[in-house]
Amino acid sequence: MKIGFVGAGFFADDFIKLFKMHPDVEEVVVADLEPERVKRAMRRHGLKRGFSSFEEMLKEAPDVDSIGIFAQRHLHGPLAIRALEAGKHVYSAVPIGCTLEEIREITEMVKKTGLTYMMGETCYYYPCAIYCREKYRSGEMGKFVYGESQYYHDICEMYGDFSRSGGPNWQRVAGIPPMFYPTHSVSMLFSAIDEYALKVSCMGYRDNNEDNIYGVGKNNWDNPFSNETALFRMSGGGVARINEFRRIGINKPSSYITCLYGEKGAYECSVTSHTFQRGVASGEEPYLEDVGHLVNTIDYNEDLKNGTLDPRHDSISVKYIEGFARIQDRSRLPKKFRNVPNYSHYNSHPFLVDDFVRAVTTGKLPPNNAWDSARYMIPGLIAHESALRNGEVMDIPDLGGAPEDWERVTYELKDNYEDMNGYYETDRL
Ligand SMILES: NC(=O)c1ccc[n+]([C@@H]2O[C@H](COP(=O)([O-])OP(=O)(O)OC[C@H]3O[C@@H](n4cnc5c(N)ncnc54)[C@H](O)[C@@H]3O)[C@@H](O)[C@H]2O)c1
Repeated sequence: MKIGFVGAGFFADDFIKLFKMHPDVEEVVVADLEPERVKRAMRRHGLKRGFSSFEEMLKEAPDVDSIGIFAQRHLHGPLAIRALEAGKHVYSAVPIGCTLEEIREITEMVKKTGLTYMMGETCYYYPCAIYCREKYRSGEMGKFVYGESQYYHDICEMYGDFSRSGGPNWQRVAGIPPMFYPTHSVSMLFSAIDEYALKVSCMGYRDNNEDNIYGVGKNNWDNPFSNETALFRMSGGGVARINEFRRIGINKPSSYITCLYGEKGAYECSVTSHTFQRGVASGEEPYLEDVGHLVNTIDYNEDLKNGTLDPRHDSISVKYIEGFARIQDRSRLPKKFRNVPNYSHYNSHPFLVDDFVRAVTTGKLPPNNAWDSARYMIPGLIAHESALRNGEVMDIPDLGGAPEDWERVTYELKDNYEDMNGYYETDRL
């Protein structure tokens, strides 16, 4: 396969490198509206072709079969629709789109064409999400009762992200409603329990900072809220609490599941403390287990063991969210990806790239496909509407699950976590 990047900004860089390294990718090309970024990407990654816009790339490089969307977040929906219209597979950085209409159109086009669509949801591969998915699916937790997850990222830390490509009025885009970027928090919890949201009530925190980002008239959405908290009624009857905060005095962790309670067992997390508890309803003796050895990164656990870690700083250090955790099955990755230097976002990037390539080259359905992505995104769109109506309970439109007969990308799950460290040879190498 050959992939063309739309956007060669900050976030694209890691992904250009990984797609180029992948054994099943023949060529990577880039397009950006800023010529300097095209030149830089071509130079850094030794690319042969670069273009001045997405449209030019579509016209001049018809042999490119897949498009990677790494443009600013509010542009993803229209770009994905244009790429699908052109008959291309689509990998899109989060989110899938910012309106219900865009998202509906994407799911309909993917169904009609059979093309691959995958949203690059980093948090789906976060150790806490994988741990909760596997533990929940094992049945040990029982039926889902209640869970909490969140994405905390202070807007002050993102001034650069928005001003980089946003021009003199970058605040107008920076003020996007927090719940219009819900996929990190929602994907972790919803994918763990394999349910979707039916109803929502959401409250917003009305911002009063003087940085001219949030408030009526200040941004493209007239959004007054820097922080939003939503309660969702889930399809299985349980309740999920999601926080999307952009003005908040917490540094790390930023995207994590605080708790997932089932009728029989529970996962709880506080910074780097991860525990599993078995409750009385399990019929077995209740117990508590520290599962940090699976969920914290391997480097963190090593340094903890060696006594070289200062918990005051290190437990919230970026250093310890860069790297694989034991629960992440490195053995399923192409060999070249297994020992890549640490990437941010818990080394989720190699998994994202490999899943998309597997889907395109086999025609199978990837995780975080169009229907999964719709179920991560639409609840946020409606949650913001509810916040504007002071918490009114609102129904959430559901576009359904992926077609049952579309075979999914699968991997063998190993039942021995000790072996999930990686370092295996696999058939596909
Ligand atoms: N954890 C995560 O999942 C995560 C983390 C960071 C960023 N992101 C997402 O990645 C995306 C990119 O982030 P970034 O920080 O690199 O943004 P950026 O602003 O640095 O880069 C975006 C680039 O897209 C280009 N672009 C826009 N429209 C284009 C078009 N029509 N043709 C060609 N180029 C076009 C712009 O010129 C710009 O250079 C964002 O949507 C962001 O939400 C996701």
